[in-house]
Formats: sequence, structure tokens, C-alpha cells
Amino acid sequence: MEPSKTVNVCFVCLGNICRSPLAQGLCARLVAEEGLAGRIHIESAGTGDWHVGKLPDSRMQATANKNGLRLTSRARQFRRDDFDRFDLVVAMDRANEAELSRMCAPETAREKLKLFRSFDPQCNGDPDVPDPYYGGNDGFDVVFQIVQRACPEILKHVKTRFLDPPA
Ligand code: 4NP
Repeated sequence: MEPSKTVNVCFVCLGNICRSPLAQGLCARLVAEEGLAGRIHIESAGTGDWHVGKLPDSRMQATANKNGLRLTSRARQFRRDDFDRFDLVVAMDRANEAELSRMCAPETAREKLKLFRSFDPQCNGDPDVPDPYYGGNDGFDVVFQIVQRACPEILKHVKTRFLDPPA
């Protein structure tokens, strides 16, 4: 891709009200802190449509708020043609990844689709960000810790792969 193009990244979970909005919020904050807001654009979406238009779950908002982050995204459903718009699509768990890979050609999945915890330096072999929706408040803290560990690695990957590609 040409060097001045904006890099578009989308985090995808099931409902787009818990995990992926947090990843969007934290990653966008890192991007802004590095002065890259004009170069890297971050969004999120869900594979399901139940919560379209809603703000993040109040429990996810509370966890984000106590860590100094406000989440303001509105849920939307990932569409097949989003694969044309995004350079990197990061699935929060294997079920999300499987759903997304059914929506695109195998070469598109190979090129653009990644699993979130593949960027988690402490994943300990666990490939999924656990879905906190039906659990207690602790689950939201676990999600926060995972997302906080992986987002800097994702940003490093985006910079290396898309902003300073090897000559
Ligand atoms: P998320 O969590 O995928 O992290 O946004 C969920 C939100 C809603 C539902 C499941 C998971 N739900 O079944 O409505």
C-alpha cells in the first residue's frame, strides 16, 4: 500500500458491546498518544446484530472508566464488504474468527484476519478473549487485562507491517 494511506483496523467480537469496544477504545488511545491518529483508524464491530446502535455494556463501561477510559462507540454488525475497507480485522475469539473467515475468500482471511490473543505476550496457549457477557464483574477485569497487554503489540504490528514496511 502507498505510504501515506490511512491504515484501517477493526476489532470484532460477538455483540460489539463488551470486548471489541474496549479494544477499540484502548488501541485508539495508544494511537492518539503516539500522534498517529491521522494515520491509523480504529473501529469495532460484532458478528451478531442484537445490540446494533447501543453503547457498550454498562459493566464494560464501568471497567473502562475505573481505568481512565471512556467508551463511546455504538454497536454495529460486521459486513462482508468491510473486508474491502479494513487492512486488519482482529477477532476476539475463535468463534468470531470462524464466522469472519466464512465471510471472505481464504486469501483475504490469510492476509487480513488475525486472532486477538496471538498478540498477547501472556496468552499461555489460550487463543480466546473470554466472553464476559453472561459472567460476573471479574470477567470484565480479565478482559481489560488481556486487552491492555495485547493492544501495544497490535500497534507495533500495524506500524511495522503498514507504516514502516521493510524496503
Ligand atoms: P461481546 O459480548 O461479544 O464481547 O460484545 C457479548 C455481548 C452480547 C452477547 C454475547 C456476548 N449476547 O449474547 O447478547
